[in-house]
Amino acid sequence: MRGTFPLVFSVTSGKGGVGKTNISVNLAVCLARLGRRAVLLDADLGLANVDVLLGLSPPRNIFHLLNGEASLSDVLFPTPYGFSILPASSGIAELCNLSRGQKFELLDALDEMEGDIDCLIVDTGAGIGDNVLYFNQAVQRRLVVLTPEPTSLTDGYALIKSLKQNHAVEQFDVCINMSSDMKTARETFKRLYNACDHFLGGVSLDIVGIIPRDPEVRKAVVRQIPFTVENGQSPVAKAVLALAKTVSDWEVPTNQDGNIKIFWKKFLGLG
Ligand SMILES: Nc1ncnc2c1ncn2[C@@H]1O[C@H](COP(=O)(O)OP(=O)(O)O)[C@@H](O)[C@H]1O
Ligand SMILES: [Mg+2]
Repeated sequence: MRGTFPLVFSVTSGKGGVGKTNISVNLAVCLARLGRRAVLLDADLGLANVDVLLGLSPPRNIFHLLNGEASLSDVLFPTPYGFSILPASSGIAELCNLSRGQKFELLDALDEMEGDIDCLIVDTGAGIGDNVLYFNQAVQRRLVVLTPEPTSLTDGYALIKSLKQNHAVEQFDVCINMSSDMKTARETFKRLYNACDHFLGGVSLDIVGIIPRDPEVRKAVVRQIPFTVENGQSPVAKAVLALAKTVSDWEVPTNQDGNIKIFWKKFLGLG
């Protein structure tokens, strides 16, 4: 991550169950290992399970911050793996209904993050609901997760189309998860690329990660330990580490107002 300001990116998808949360958590582990101060924002309203994957129960969420019941450092929940969680899955719906004044107060409270972290990973819900779109238009980069299943491809395309047409988002980083082999993964990406090229002019797609289907993932989920911690040598752990290295090299556009602040401003509709 070059530049002075933190990187804010989402891990997102059109379809649920493609591996966003597993990838987010393990990317956070690997980024921490690479020396990055990472915060994982659990922003899936429907199926929040960052804490379940980690076997942790953060007692507070972002709404306590807003209520003045807790400070940012009380809400940020440290994990044993070198990164923190910002629980937001409950509370986000309320955030959108705040008055403008309350939103600015929240922005001030969240602004403390700016100097203390190198990257904010936003684990979103699936689909093209308002919240998913808001988060995705507010971040600097989007990691769209796809599996070789045809429904994942059509839903991923729908998400990209929606972001392009409604929010003028034109650049996407794609990660293929649960592929049986490299050829299938590349073909999956090619299909998405061709559809976007044909029907959505001006969208730029890069394939940045290929993560194999690996029984280690399910085992780690059951044990509530990230698979990159359980067995750093498994194919899936190596693939996520490679992805983390790619993410670490992403150029960070520097902004006078600060990237974290811009993210929250855009998300809250203030920017
Ligand atoms: N690379 C993989 N290999 C095998 N199983 C996987 C892999 N990635 C995810 N899974 C499994 O898929 C399911 C959904 O993963 P999850 O991260 O919760 O998806 P999402 O957050 O997109 O809904 C989990 O049961 C997980 O164990
Ligand atoms: Mg999830």
